[in-house]
Amino acid sequence: MVLHRTMGPYDTTAIGLGEMPLTIENNLGHAKGIETIHAALDAGCRQIDTAWAYYCSGGEEQTGEKLVREALASWKGPKDEVLVATKVGHFRNFTDGKPTWDVDGSPENLIKRAKQSAYELGVDAIDLLYFHRPDPKIPYGDSIEALKQLVDEGVAKEAGVSNASVEQIDIAREILGDSLIAVQNQYSPIYRETQDTLDHCALVGLSFVCWSPLGGFRKPKDESKFDPFREVAAAHGVSYQQVVLAWELAKGDHVFVIPGAHRPETILDSLKAGDLELTPEELAKLG
Ligand SMILES: NC(=O)c1ccc[n+]([C@@H]2O[C@H](COP(=O)([O-])OP(=O)(O)OC[C@H]3O[C@@H](n4cnc5c(N)ncnc54)[C@H](OP(=O)(O)O)[C@@H]3O)[C@@H](O)[C@H]2O)c1
Repeated sequence: MVLHRTMGPYDTTAIGLGEMPLTIENNLGHAKGIETIHAALDAGCRQIDTAWAYYCSGGEEQTGEKLVREALASWKGPKDEVLVATKVGHFRNFTDGKPTWDVDGSPENLIKRAKQSAYELGVDAIDLLYFHRPDPKIPYGDSIEALKQLVDEGVAKEAGVSNASVEQIDIAREILGDSLIAVQNQYSPIYRETQDTLDHCALVGLSFVCWSPLGGFRKPKDESKFDPFREVAAAHGVSYQQVVLAWELAKGDHVFVIPGAHRPETILDSLKAGDLELTPEELAKLG
């Protein structure tokens, strides 16, 4: 069974499916997207991470949320066990002709987009709604007040923040109280700058969700950072990606990972990371 952990009121899998690669640029098509989500769910994955903004720049909006809804509708398993998280505050744009990510954290925009998210996900209330990224044009507390309104109105059951500093997490805690259950920040062997927020979440009782837990797939990464993980992987006879995920999960019982996948094979391999036990010596070596 895939490792389960507690996130706020939810019992869900510590390893979720990051939906983004299935619907942004260079995705492998609609059928492969459905196949990948079904494969993850069939293997026991009970958490899917999507966002209002997971579509191709200039294309149809909200294709990520639409894909998740369609995949769940055609899946024969227990849908009520699946935690679907989405995010608002980002939208797609172009800079110098290249696809980019823009932000609008105004309360009006967040409220409008969250209602659209609930509609396209086909739910009365979103399981977990994150504020996707701080908008430098808007005071952080104003954006979070919008999230609170969405919870109070029943558009979202629980709230989260993403790409947040310790100070921003504390502002969100103050405004949202117990409705704030998770922080989703970048964290991986090539990106450890958010360690302070991972530690802070443990202290204050919030879940910490690592995004791009394998270092992401779009930008060239410093491959040498993965060498120690490759060595440990060779000793266990598993992929180094499983070792990376197991190392992240060993950072605390409040930690979750949402590896992205373009195809069933990679998420099926990643889901096995919950079974991989790293020794104290191995964890010390990995840092
Ligand atoms: N909150 C935010 O601002 C934010 C930002 C970025 C991402 N995210 C979330 O985080 C999720 C994950 O991030 P990500 O997709 O950028 O990067 P990632 O999970 O670090 O890496 C994904 C890449 O790793 C490969 N992969 C995954 N599991 C593997 C395995 N077991 N063996 C070999 N290769 C494996 C995938 O290969 P294939 O392509 O071959 O399948 C894909 O290319 C996203 O889907 C999204 O939900 C959130």
